[in-house]
Amino acid sequence: MYLRVLFPLPILLSFASALKPDGLISAFKNAVDCDSCHALLVPLKGLAELGDSAFVKTMVEVCKVLKLEDDDVCVGGITEQGPILAHALRGISPLGTTATKLCEGTFGLCQPPAVNPYTVPLPAPGPPAARKQSVSAGKTPFQVVHFSDVHIDREYVAGSDANCKKPICCRDFADEAKPPIEPAGAFGNPNCDSPVGLAKSMLEQISAHHTWSIFTGDVVEAAVWLVNKSEVTHDIRRFNHELVAALNAPVFPAIGNHDSAPVNNFPLDATVGYFDAQWVFDLEGKQWAHWTNRTAKREVKHFSGSYSITAPGTNLRIISLNTVYWYKQNFWLYESDTPEADPREILAFMVSELQAAEDAGQRVWIIGHMPPGCEDALSDQSNYYDQIVQRYHSIIAGQFFGHTHYDEFEIAYSNYEARGADTAVNVAWIAPALTPRSGNPAFRVYDVDPETYEIMDSKVYSADLKNPEYQTKPEWKLYYSARAEYGPLVDLAPTAPLDARFWHDVTEAFERNETAFQRYNTFLTRGGHVAPCDAACKKAAICQMRAARAQDNCHVAKPGTTFGDTERDQVVMTGTGSSTTTTPAPASGPSARQHAQCEGAGIGYLLSQFSRKVAIAGPVRFE
Ligand SMILES: *[C@@H]1O[C@H](CO)[C@@H](O)[C@H](O)[C@H]1NC(C)=O
Ligand SMILES: *[C@@H]1O[C@H](CO)[C@@H](O)[C@H](O)[C@H]1NC(C)=O
Ligand SMILES: *[C@@H]1O[C@H](CO)[C@@H](O)[C@H](O)[C@H]1NC(C)=O
Repeated sequence: MYLRVLFPLPILLSFASALKPDGLISAFKNAVDCDSCHALLVPLKGLAELGDSAFVKTMVEVCKVLKLEDDDVCVGGITEQGPILAHALRGISPLGTTATKLCEGTFGLCQPPAVNPYTVPLPAPGPPAARKQSVSAGKTPFQVVHFSDVHIDREYVAGSDANCKKPICCRDFADEAKPPIEPAGAFGNPNCDSPVGLAKSMLEQISAHHTWSIFTGDVVEAAVWLVNKSEVTHDIRRFNHELVAALNAPVFPAIGNHDSAPVNNFPLDATVGYFDAQWVFDLEGKQWAHWTNRTAKREVKHFSGSYSITAPGTNLRIISLNTVYWYKQNFWLYESDTPEADPREILAFMVSELQAAEDAGQRVWIIGHMPPGCEDALSDQSNYYDQIVQRYHSIIAGQFFGHTHYDEFEIAYSNYEARGADTAVNVAWIAPALTPRSGNPAFRVYDVDPETYEIMDSKVYSADLKNPEYQTKPEWKLYYSARAEYGPLVDLAPTAPLDARFWHDVTEAFERNETAFQRYNTFLTRGGHVAPCDAACKKAAICQMRAARAQDNCHVAKPGTTFGDTERDQVVMTGTGSSTTTTPAPASGPSARQHAQCEGAGIGYLLSQFSRKVAIAGPVRFE
């Protein structure tokens, strides 16, 4: 109603030219900074006011004219997710704070607005903020496997083209080159998601290593322009079944942004007609109950995919959170100008479970898909999450995430103005991905102290895609041990765990020891397509390590690099004919490559290509 008053029909009609593909293209061309991005949202909102189908139709046309991707990718990506964006645009002022967040998250044209102050309600005052190291009594550790981002492509076809022009290859696309330019091998390719055989091969390895496992989400492949509800349902069922069949011990999973359809579709109101996501929670709750229990099943259903469970034979509570409600590419989060501090009350659930653990004298692991300190997380919820960690850090023995596809970590500090070993209070472990899209396939094995549940060692196992035997039978090898690699750099005592203090000391070692840092940079992708990291990139990388809050991660939004995956972009750009004259600027280190890898070619990625295209090509003629 309010919106109709703001944009009555005659005014809408005066936008008429801006609402046609040509007009919209000029509006995109003029969007070069934050103010002009807000201005761009005016015609975009006008278009959304005309209805979902008008919005989708025009945006698809623009995508095709600009040749942002192959036509089928334009149609699929925008048809699936476009209506969610249109819904958001209808609900907000193009000039407001939510619009600024949208301009940042989608186009990289604004910086995130300052955190909206909010104090998370906590049930009891915390114990004195004393911070002691949980030294191990030296009992024999047990092993827990952490795997993530399996992205299994059940339509992967060995022998199909691995060098196609689409964001994901190795499928029998109707328009693919015949004969294929580069035939896909049986066990995967850097341009493709995981074939089923690769996932099976990893699960065989895991079964030899684990007491039980954690899996931090993203079951479904990233050809997101084709993904629908029936595929996601099928993929989730199949994978859970494969886990049960391959592993003789529990797996504790978390929900990923790809584990819904359309991708990233997690509405605040779970039952909004076609875009409902309750089916995901009902399905996962039921399937995960194989490893959890009836209470957890109910929690998954009612807390939007989150649950809590005590790990078998331990005094350790695992709290699994659906972090996709804090994810910048979940367009449902932009549907209002009134900020919602705790979407779906995930934070409130986290507090009540932590309090229950504290009351019961338990220690806790938090698991989730997206690390709250990364650039993909909304700064508000990241800040609120951190408040909870500050309160309960003494019982949190670890936080475990995936999503970035990189082997990395983020440290929480009691005082972000004075980040040092003495203020480091907690650490988020971010696991490498199985999908070969972001480096060599990998998983981690933790050595866990049986009394403190602190991590005593983290060993990464990976399979080298370049090994000549790889396509016959991937060979999984110990890639490195964090304790063996970094312990000597910081004089780690034999009984000390790999806790926040340790990881802070490691960041200082990286500052003074270039060799050590460059090894870390290689480990990020397990040695597969390693990106060079110069002094500026190193500074940004260390800043991210020292930030469990998004507001402190030093990420600077830039047009076009927001979602820019340079290697894949090069392929796409060369196919675009005369409209590009300049080569894209190289991505600046790990964070710049991150989005395209995590999100796939969703509408966010496509939209970023609009501004990117303009940023790179300057004034161009599109017809
Ligand atoms: C969903 O996707 C699958 C796999 O891409 C396809 O075979 C199926 O026809 C689609 N279903 C619908 C209802 O569109
Ligand atoms: C499930 O486990 C939790 C903690 O692990 C426990 O509090 C709860 O009572 C259990 N529920 C059932 C139905 O066993
Ligand atoms: C720097 O790091 C490398 C690689 O970890 C290590 O071999 C070397 O001893 C370190 N140098 C110093 C001075 O600590």
